[in-house]
Amino acid sequence: MHTTVGIVGGGPAGLLLARLLHNAGIDSVVLELRDRAYVEQRQRAGILEQATVEALRAAGAGERMDAEGIPHHGIELRFGRRSHRLDFPSLTGGRSVMVYAQTEVVKDLIALQLADGGPLLFGAEVTSVEGAQSDSPVVEFVQEGRAQTLTCDYVVGCDGFHGVTRDAVPEDVRTTYERTHPYSWLGVLAEAPPVYDELVYAHSDRGFALASMRSPTVSRLYLQVPNGTDPADWSAERIWDELDTRLALDRDPGWKLERGPVTSKAVLPMRSHVTEPMRYGRVFLAGDAAHIVPPTGAKGLNLAAADVIVLARALARWRETGSAELLDAYSDTCLRRVWRAEHFSSFMTATLHTDPAQSPFDTRLQLSQLERIATSPHAAAELAENYTGLPLPR
Ligand code: FAD
Ligand code: DHB
Repeated sequence: MHTTVGIVGGGPAGLLLARLLHNAGIDSVVLELRDRAYVEQRQRAGILEQATVEALRAAGAGERMDAEGIPHHGIELRFGRRSHRLDFPSLTGGRSVMVYAQTEVVKDLIALQLADGGPLLFGAEVTSVEGAQSDSPVVEFVQEGRAQTLTCDYVVGCDGFHGVTRDAVPEDVRTTYERTHPYSWLGVLAEAPPVYDELVYAHSDRGFALASMRSPTVSRLYLQVPNGTDPADWSAERIWDELDTRLALDRDPGWKLERGPVTSKAVLPMRSHVTEPMRYGRVFLAGDAAHIVPPTGAKGLNLAAADVIVLARALARWRETGSAELLDAYSDTCLRRVWRAEHFSSFMTATLHTDPAQSPFDTRLQLSQLERIATSPHAAAELAENYTGLPLPR
């Protein structure tokens, strides 16, 4: 089998890339390890930056997002048992975000690809990518026990942090930058109305909590927990009690969350990771295959989308003009945005979480920083600009 662009991984990065290439008249094949139901149900991110929303619309994948997604024009910060709202449009010259789950983005892109796109193969495990420096790199994969090869003009590794494409970049060419974090998140899905009509990011003396949502009847909730936590230790009652405590406000001492059945819970480790460069010969890396951010800034999915938007444009330019100029610039172009997101995600994480080794002095510094954001339009604008996302490079 031969294709112009072989795409390893059918997560948001691989699926959006396939759609953008299809729209540009460039053929591709997507090879996805898991089955369709697994990919469509994997609980992950929930916030789309304005640029991601616009890109999905422009790609023809915005119809259900515009009908069912929930536009959000701000977030609430809670600290010192007080709340402070950040109003995104007034702080950023009109920018906002959309609450629309990654599961739904993935379902929409899969439906489009199966309806009129190139091949999207599920249950196809890529075992290696060879010949990055040749004119025709080869993807080796196994589907239904049968070893197969896909030859390509270009290969894009959209196979996430545990994927295999990164190994096509030799170790002496690759630089890895990494940081682990001394806490994890317990991610919870519950049949309960959202805590508040916007997202609540809470600093408390018992650690971080985040109250998000999936619909008017479903809440998505996160609690900072120690690394190595077993989700089985967190009963629904313990989860709700802890949320009540971490989200408490002095002005409303009797306030409690409206409880409902917990339908899923999982512990998510936190990692910061960047692999440079994001291109080696005819092999490109995009999304989590190249970089991971801790989720506090809601950036992972948006960075994955930004990478493939830049790459699809570069491949379209190459196809139309024969020029590899944008392809050559791909890694540097993406890494500028990646490092901005790494910084913002680390900042949000360090400012809102309680490090087990944290001193009372450190806590006072966190509270001073949060107070600054709540009282200075300049500090608030810095957060809001990063959260709603910087414009994509033209
Ligand atoms: P992925 O979504 O990881 O997709 C990679 C795809 O490649 C997968 O479908 C995988 O099955 C496939 N694959 C892997 N290996 C192979 C192979 N050998 N052959 C073929 N296919 C392969 N971000 C937020 O902003 N907020 C969150 O709350 C949040 N929660 C997260 C929770 C978890 C557990 C994880 C892992 C990530 C979370 N993220 C979150 C980050 C966000 O979901 C990711 O940044 C986003 O999924 C990146 O998309 P991607 O397509 O690059 O990678
Ligand atoms: C969600 C996840 C995040 O990491 C975040 O910062 C905001 C929202 C969510 O899953 O809804």
